[in-house]
Formats: sequence, C-alpha cells, structure tokens
Amino acid sequence: MSEVTCVPYLIRWAAPPRSAAKCAPFPHGGGPAIRQMSLRIAIAAISLIAAVLSMFVRTAAASEGEEEARLLKDAQATFSPLPHDFATHEFPVTPERVELGRQLFFDPRVSVDGTSSCARCHQAALYATDALVQSHGARNKVLLRNAPTVLNTALQFKQQWAGEFENVEAQATHALNAPGLGNPDAATALARINAIPGYVEQFRAAFPDQPDPITAENYGKAVGAYERTLVIPSRFDAYLRGNTDALSQDEQHGLRLFLETGCADCHNGAGIGGSEFEKFGVFADFRKQIGGNPDDQGRFGVTKDPTDKDVFKVPSLRNVAMTAPYFHTGTVAHLETAVRVMARVQLDKTLSDDEAKAIVAFLRSLTGTRPAGFETAPMLPAGFVPYK
Ligand code: HEC
Ligand code: HEC
Repeated sequence: MSEVTCVPYLIRWAAPPRSAAKCAPFPHGGGPAIRQMSLRIAIAAISLIAAVLSMFVRTAAASEGEEEARLLKDAQATFSPLPHDFATHEFPVTPERVELGRQLFFDPRVSVDGTSSCARCHQAALYATDALVQSHGARNKVLLRNAPTVLNTALQFKQQWAGEFENVEAQATHALNAPGLGNPDAATALARINAIPGYVEQFRAAFPDQPDPITAENYGKAVGAYERTLVIPSRFDAYLRGNTDALSQDEQHGLRLFLETGCADCHNGAGIGGSEFEKFGVFADFRKQIGGNPDDQGRFGVTKDPTDKDVFKVPSLRNVAMTAPYFHTGTVAHLETAVRVMARVQLDKTLSDDEAKAIVAFLRSLTGTRPAGFETAPMLPAGFVPYK
C-alpha cells in the first residue's frame, strides 16, 4: 500500500513530498537516498531523450540539406546565370555606341510628332514596360500587342512576341519607322536625327570608318548596343551560383513546383524562357481564357505556315513580377492568374491556391535591380526638330 502511494514521489523527485513520512517505504532515512536515485534516473532519461531527439533533428537537417542540394543541381541543369553583358563579336558593346544608343532610346525628337520615344513604352519606372494592355504610339495610335520589357531582352533568341526579328539591332532598325515612333519611312526618321548636330558627331565617333554613318542599320546597332548592356541579375543568379540562402524556403518550394509542374520544359536557360517557339494553347484555346485578337495568330503572321498558327515565342520570365499586364494580349492583370492560365492551357493542370502562390513566390525572385544607366534619363544633344 505504501509503495503504491510512493510511486508519484519517485517521479515527482524535484518537488519535495508534502508528507514524506506518510509515503516513505523506508521510514528511517530511506527518503533522501531514493530522491537521489530518482534524480539520477531522471537525468539519464532526459539525456537519452535529448540524444535521440538530436539524432532526429540531425537526420532531418541532413535530408533537408540533401533536398536543397538536389534542387540546386536540378536548377543548375535547367537554368543558367546571366552573363556580364550580351555583346557578341558581330555586335560589340563599345562605349560610344552604348552612349549614343542610350540617348536615342530616350529621345522623342526621333518620332514623327515629337511625342514618342522607345522610353515612352519601355519606361524606366515600370521595368521597361508601359503598364498598358496595348501600347499607344505617336499620334496615340494603339499598337497591336502588349509591350514586353527590354531589360535582359537581348538574351532572347528572337525579338517580339512572335519572334519577328533576329536580334535587338534588327528590331530597333524596324522600330525607327514603325507605328510606335510613327515615322512613315526610315528616311524621315534619319533626317530628324541629322538635324541635331550633336548626333552627327556622335554617329561619327561610334562608326568611325564610315563616311555617312547616320543610317537605319547603324541606328539599330547603336540602340542595340545599349540594349545589350541591360543585364539585370536577380537573387536567382546568386542561387544558381551556389548560394542556396539567396532564395527563401517558400521560393525554393516554388522553384521545385516550377520544375515538377513542367513550366521549365518551355521556360528554361538564362532567360527562364526566350529560347524557343511554342504553341500558346497546347491543351485549350487560350482565347477562351484570356480573350485577345483572333487575327493575331503569332508566328503564322511571319511564316504563313499553318502549323505556326498561335505559335508564340516563350517569353523570358525575368522581372515578370514587375511587368503586368500579361501575355501578348495584355489582358491578364495578375501574375497568379497568368500562372494558372499557363498550367491550364499549356500543361492541362489545375494548380491549387498554395501551388500557384508558391510559383509566384519563385517568379518574384527573378526581379533584379534596374541598372543606374536605365533609371536616369540621359542629357540629350541640343536642337529642335519641327514635327509634322
Ligand atoms: C508605342 C510604344 C512603343 C514604342 C515607342 C517602342 N516600343 Fe518596343 N515594343 C512595343 C510593343 C507593343 C512591343 C511588342 C511588339 C510585338 O511583339 O508585336 C515591343 C517590343 C519590343 C522589343 C522586343 C522585346 C521582346 O521581349 O521580344 C524590343 C527589344 C523593343 N520593343 C525595343 C524598342 C526600341 C529600341 C524602341 C525605340 C526604337 C521601341 N521599342 C519603341 C512598344 C513600343
Ligand atoms: C508548352 C510551353 C509552355 C509551358 C509548359 C509553359 N509556358 Fe509559360 N508561356 C509559353 C508561351 C508560348 C508564352 C507566351 C504566350 C503569349 O503569347 O502571350 C508564355 C507566357 C507565360 C507568362 C506570361 C509572361 C508575360 O510576360 O506576359 C508567364 C507568367 C508564364 N508563361 C509562366 C509559366 C508557368 C508558371 C508555367 C508552368 C505552370 C508555364 N509558363 C508553362 C509557353 C509555355
């Protein structure tokens, strides 16, 4: 009977029994001895529990570490960090060309009515977009598609939504007399540039071997050289270089989902996209989800090949969190919606709320810091060019 009463005392060693006598199985001095013994047992038990726990924690940490390392390896096999610039042998990034190109990019006097420049639709404050569904050009003409960013664009294998141009130089040469700047032809635009003496000198310096350097091609080369310096690395580049702390656990989870869901089948490489054409609407008609102009059939407009109907360039997703609204239609306001549309029409998958949010968290890690030379508009050479 007394032994039974004492069991709680053995366990509750730390709290001295209110009536040791009532409980003591060894009435003469047995109490303290038992207390000491139970203390040892308890310490041993606690150490054992602690050891087992730390083993668990260590195993969990090890497998978490392994999981992180595996994810990094998968990511490194699929994506790559940005290079220092996008210069090539054919298109060097010389200081003279870059500075001239930067000025031309910001100069509204090149446009037919003096109201439009590249920077009108590729605004520094908006990560080189205009935050419009469809851009407005000179004389407020509404363009056909949404304006993509020009940050990192030179790394893409083709330019524009349907890959209309081989490189940024060809795109800029074309833009000189496209509706954005509104010039009826290249000659009109070049005459406007020629009317500003500062540019005449700068073209000579940028293209020193040419007697008459103000040409549409050189305009494209100068603007293109500037665009080839617009390299905007993000935390994801630090991650790809091996610093797993550069992405939070949520972002890493999103990256894992991005890979496992199949997004990276199309959006891969240094641009997280920008390296291939794909049909938009592999499993479902995208227009039913996001609307859009049925006459814009993407790549078909370039090649006239029926298999190219609704084929578009897989765009780079760098800075995508900053460039709403989305798609060539500009009809989707939120990135999470764009991610769901992609899963649905490209992969026939329905994402849960948590999955869509995690992927968006990963996409946010692709936002880089805008370069200083882009944030501030340059001083432009003096001169007035009458507009039509
Ligand atoms: C009126 C607005 C507007 C102006 C002005 C404008 N752009 Fe754009 N830009 C757009 C739109 C819209 C697109 C998408 C065109 C398409 O795909 O059909 C685009 C596409 C581009 C692209 C392709 C990006 C990619 O991801 O493929 C580049 C590069 C570019 N513009 C550079 C320029 C340059 C350089 C100038 C000045 C010479 C310029 N833009 C002037 C609106 C404009
Ligand atoms: C089969 C190829 C393919 C797959 C798979 C794919 N995409 Fe795309 N993605 C495209 C194409 C093509 C476009 C351009 C659509 C257009 O013309 O507007 C695009 C556009 C996007 C855009 C809009 C970008 C912008 O600047 O407006 C986002 C965001 C995007 N994809 C994210 C994802 C995500 C997230 C996944 C996985 C759930 C995914 N994509 C899977 C081909 C693909």
